[in-house]
Amino acid sequence: MQVPVVSRNALAPIPNPPEVDADVRALGERLFHEPRLSRDGTVACASCHHLHLAGGDSRTHAIGIDGQVMPLNTPTVFNAALHHAQFHDGRVSTLEKQVAGPLHSPLEMDSSWDVAIAALKDDPSYVASFGKLYAEGITSTTIAHAIASFERTLLTPDSRFDRYLLGDNTALDERERAGYKLFLRRGCSSCHQGAAIGGNLFQRFGVMEDYYADRAAHAPASPGRIAVTGRDEDRHVYKVPSLRNVAVTGPYLHDGSVESLSNVVALMGHYQLGLQLSTDEIELITAFLTTLTGSYRGVELK
Ligand code: HEC
Ligand code: HEC
Repeated sequence: MQVPVVSRNALAPIPNPPEVDADVRALGERLFHEPRLSRDGTVACASCHHLHLAGGDSRTHAIGIDGQVMPLNTPTVFNAALHHAQFHDGRVSTLEKQVAGPLHSPLEMDSSWDVAIAALKDDPSYVASFGKLYAEGITSTTIAHAIASFERTLLTPDSRFDRYLLGDNTALDERERAGYKLFLRRGCSSCHQGAAIGGNLFQRFGVMEDYYADRAAHAPASPGRIAVTGRDEDRHVYKVPSLRNVAVTGPYLHDGSVESLSNVVALMGHYQLGLQLSTDEIELITAFLTTLTGSYRGVELK
């Protein structure tokens, strides 16, 4: 049998979501929208990850409990299930482990498993739902399992680019096809690759030139993977973000420091590839990126 040759940096269509038990998914969706998981019952996952705002909050910086402003931009939860690790520095490996992060963060939900579990145990409808689905009832493991199971269904298929990859040549116009070619030929896909068009590598921001030295007044909100590994060579190394739905998930970069998509494209060309992209090339690549907007429950993200 002949094995098809797929180049390492190829882009691929979004896979179909996995089969998830409908009751587990519904419980996870309810928990995702549940403010009682937070210290004072005011902040839910969905307070920052709005499903109707493309899974983010459209803000530069996330706002958590007591109105505290975080130094980081809220990434979308859509397609997070396709990432090889979660958070901008990849500090946790699974969606299940990710849940404990915002739950305990003093800037986000400022809660604890004890607080969250007690709040859910106070509500007979949660006791009944968990009792039906999990022998052990309401625990940190079952809460995280239900939320992560819901998140695994948050894939956004059916973008115009997916339709193009699946054989519909009319799904992209001429300029968008030219932008796609540039994205491949200029080397963007050496980092932004696979079904999520990113989310599967850690790379330095500032490969060809030192981005942060050029912006001395603008200290990074996070030093990157060095915080996880302790290795100096991991300073300013971040998870390569997925570019799925990127046209509707600005502002950009882990710190939300860039408003416009075409400006990020220009920065990437310069700092990551050592290229001075022309205005037309930047426009073509940006046009291609707008074809990556997919749908959730049959409705295109916006
Ligand atoms: C106060 C706003 C806020 C709340 C509340 C919040 N998040 Fe987030 N979320 C963020 C920010 C900001 C990040 C980026 C943090 C980082 O990279 O270190 C993030 C990152 C994530 C990621 C990783 C995405 C990626 O691209 O790496 C997932 C998944 C996620 N959140 C799910 C959740 C879940 C589940 C909850 C509820 C238990 C939750 N979030 C609560 C703001 C929030
Ligand atoms: C060497 C790896 C690498 C290359 C090559 C690269 N990028 Fe990136 N890209 C990154 C990293 C890492 C980030 C995240 C930086 C941060 O958050 O501070 C990023 C961020 C982005 C973002 C912002 C996404 C968001 O949601 O905030 C866009 C858009 C982007 N890149 C597009 C491109 C384009 C277009 C090209 C080609 C011109 C390109 N990249 C080339 C690694 C790369």
